[in-house]
Amino acid sequence: MKIVHVVGARPNFMKAAPVLQALARHPGVRQAIVHTGQHYDVDMSAVFFRDLGLPEPDVNLEVGSGSHAQQTALIMTRFESIVLDLKPDVVLVYGDVNSTVAASLTCAKLLIPVGHVEAGLRAFDRTMPEEINRILTDQMAQWLFTSSPDGNENLLREGVEPKKIHLVGNTMIDTLVRLLPHVAEHHAREFPLSYALVTLHRPSNVDHPDFLRAILQALLDISQELPVIFSVHPRTRRRLLDYGLNVPNSDRFRLIGPMSYLESLARQQRATVVITDSGGMQEETTFLGVPCLTLRDNTERPVTVTMGTNLVIGRDLQRLRTEVRRILAGRGKPRQVPPLWDGQAATRIAQVLLS
Ligand code: UD1
Repeated sequence: MKIVHVVGARPNFMKAAPVLQALARHPGVRQAIVHTGQHYDVDMSAVFFRDLGLPEPDVNLEVGSGSHAQQTALIMTRFESIVLDLKPDVVLVYGDVNSTVAASLTCAKLLIPVGHVEAGLRAFDRTMPEEINRILTDQMAQWLFTSSPDGNENLLREGVEPKKIHLVGNTMIDTLVRLLPHVAEHHAREFPLSYALVTLHRPSNVDHPDFLRAILQALLDISQELPVIFSVHPRTRRRLLDYGLNVPNSDRFRLIGPMSYLESLARQQRATVVITDSGGMQEETTFLGVPCLTLRDNTERPVTVTMGTNLVIGRDLQRLRTEVRRILAGRGKPRQVPPLWDGQAATRIAQVLLS
């Protein structure tokens, strides 16, 4: 069996790594990695390959940044000839980024079967580009690997045949379980003992100058009570420059660049609270038992709210201040780890594919 994995953006890498490793244990399986090049900075891509122990991609499509149409179209055009050459039996795609939908659409037209890892998640918000990517990818895939039961329900509601849906658990948590014992050396000594870790990159938060300015003010206010460490994504960095927003870097309000995978785990693990709009961090904090405040109107990962430590607070910055104070007063949510978030999701995916 020949399997091609398509990855392209930062959150794909930790979802794909355990699947590659699980399939590599089967002698009859040949695998190739196609990197679309959607993310290309060393600290958005290469450092993740290093931390995760992923082999170098066999092919890099080097599409880079662009509008949604440009990026999607370029991935499709370049991937088409590659996938025709590679002749895989299955193409595996991950998550909800533009690389995911572009590779799926290319394969659907070529009648090459696709497996979607992290299928079925829905925010019920079509203003999010990722929601469009999720819905379309799930319509085209032959194997839909879900991480929580809500994913199965969403897919059934959208008319997906039940036999295509496999509840396997969360491959990103497989990676976390494997690498958690290695985070100790990444606990930076210069960091405060308690702090809020912040990551924000969604267009709904960072692409509006007035709102981004208001977020920075709220974080500065919070930093009076709890030091803030703000890891700045390239999109956010660019917006801060575009809008001429100067952020004072001090002991209580530290700006750092994008974190490597192990740094991110280490800093989440020790955080008093994580303030984010990332999907992955909502799940990682739930597993780690760290309070998470999600600065979005909704989440496609409701299990992190119903079972985990996540609180979706909308874009209400007054509420953000209040919830941080509540957490500082020791009134965080109790949490359970969702079923099948046990480090074995990729093994289940391999079993399904090989059977
Ligand atoms: C993408 C995903 C998003 C995911 C996020 C994680 C889509 C639609 N969005 O958003 O779901 O949560 O990745 O990081 O697929 N840039 C760089 N260097 C890079 C990559 C990007 O500087 O290596 C800058 C460029 O200015 C680019 C901007 O970031 O225009 C946005 O990059 P893009 O890949 O379009 O979307 P993300 O915001 O990263």
